[in-house]
Amino acid sequence: MNLNVLQQTKLLKMVGMVKTFPGVKALRGVTVELAKGEILALLGENGAGKSTLIKILAGAFQPDTGDIFVDEQQLKMQGPADSRNAGIAVIHQEFSLIAGLSASENIFLAKPLQTYSFIHLQQEYSKAKELLDKLGADFDPRTPCRLLSVAQMQLVEIAKALSDKASILVLDEPTAALTPRETSRLFILLDQLKKSGMGIIYVSHRLDEVFQIADRMQVLRDGAEVATTAANATTQTQIIKWMVGRDIEQSGVSKKEVVGKVVISAKGLTNGVKVKNVSLEIREGEILGLTGLVGSGRTEVARILAGADIPENGEISIEGRKLNLRSVSEAIGQGIFLLTEDRKNQGLFLDRPVHENFSIASLFRFAYFGMINKAREIKAFLSHKDSMGIRVSSPLIRVGNLSGGNQQKVLLARWLERKGKVFLLDEPTRGVDVGAKEEIYLLLRKLAAEGNAILLISSELPEVLALSDRILVMHEGQIKGEIKDVAKATQEQIMELAIQ
Ligand SMILES: Nc1ncnc2c1ncn2[C@@H]1O[C@H](COP(=O)(O)OP(=O)(O)OP(=O)(O)O)[C@@H](O)[C@H]1O
Ligand SMILES: [Mg+2]
Repeated sequence: MNLNVLQQTKLLKMVGMVKTFPGVKALRGVTVELAKGEILALLGENGAGKSTLIKILAGAFQPDTGDIFVDEQQLKMQGPADSRNAGIAVIHQEFSLIAGLSASENIFLAKPLQTYSFIHLQQEYSKAKELLDKLGADFDPRTPCRLLSVAQMQLVEIAKALSDKASILVLDEPTAALTPRETSRLFILLDQLKKSGMGIIYVSHRLDEVFQIADRMQVLRDGAEVATTAANATTQTQIIKWMVGRDIEQSGVSKKEVVGKVVISAKGLTNGVKVKNVSLEIREGEILGLTGLVGSGRTEVARILAGADIPENGEISIEGRKLNLRSVSEAIGQGIFLLTEDRKNQGLFLDRPVHENFSIASLFRFAYFGMINKAREIKAFLSHKDSMGIRVSSPLIRVGNLSGGNQQKVLLARWLERKGKVFLLDEPTRGVDVGAKEEIYLLLRKLAAEGNAILLISSELPEVLALSDRILVMHEGQIKGEIKDVAKATQEQIMELAIQ
């Protein structure tokens, strides 16, 4: 780290931040300092208080107590406009894009380039295209956001924040859905911004990445600061220990040769330009990894297998029987479940309590003479809560009030509770902390060992390599390669297949 940077006045100070929600002390007096030209990583388990701190900085929440200073000037924060005017740009963990507007319109929503004439729309479009190109996005900025995948939406959110003339940039889990290629483009941009004097706060559970870009690291646990350190003075093991308060052994998942019979098979699936002639099969006890760049068609394949999209061509069979899936509920009836990557729009009922979000897919197991037995439902939930470490003070809380990673765990618990045959998991550990990830990996191996067929879509290559028995790599809607000997495979090998 550059010593000159330290001696300058602080770009940002958040002093003694306290925030309480009913039943939860989310922040217990946290102080954060940020200098010009540095990247500070903010780390901690799911529910540690990272997003709460960031929402206060964005003017979305009022703290109970605590002061914010930008360039040593105290900031009177009444709402998001005050934050923006102080030069703070925030990329939130949960997206805030308007589905009906195009990517380009979303990017310039809060600050249209003057009036809405045709010329300005053109200017917005080319500016949006320039930003998105830099990030490696391959879609047209005129695409309505409702047609974008989660990863593509993430790129739009990043472009939106970069389009502000901000001096402080805050990114809450910006790469949770990005593959290594998009991530490395983002890092090149962040490095340029940092060199131009911007101060950056970066929240992520991907510790490898954090070590690539952060100058300093600050770890929170239960709403309080545990440690702050220069990045080059610490290790991943130490950071994990600070985060979870104990040592974690990484990835001891055991695999054995899969010899079971084929559970699900698909032949020649084709749907528009997103899915072209895709064939695959998954056996009993097998975890099949499906990976590829953002937009390569992974999610679309899962949606077809789950009955959510009806393909133009191709057939799907389960245990040798041909299926003619017309809807998600038909697929569920056949024991095929989809864990969607889009937990906010397609997965969770944010206003409903945690226990209902958990039990919704298996109500028949909790029903008794037509009435839902809430006590049984809650008991079942509590066992998942313990095994995955879901941080929630009561199952009666609305799921929208949980931290991002804890929401993801509730969604996963919903499907793990079901008895099925085929589990299609789209980014199952998105935003989940390192400790809980290990637990989830063990649960998924157990699910496979019980004879289920699992399709694992993940952008995180170490995860795909650690869990999969076999890997398929997609590019532009087609399957470009298969890796059978996963033990010997490398991330580079997957990337080569993904960009051919
Ligand atoms: N609007 C809210 N209402 C009630 N409780 C909330 C609300 N927002 C956050 N919380 C609680 O505050 C605590 C901190 O949550 P926060 O979202 O800051 O965690 P986080 O560190 O960002 O976690 P993650 O890594 O999962 O994103 C959690 O216990 C969460 O349930
Ligand atoms: Mg968060």
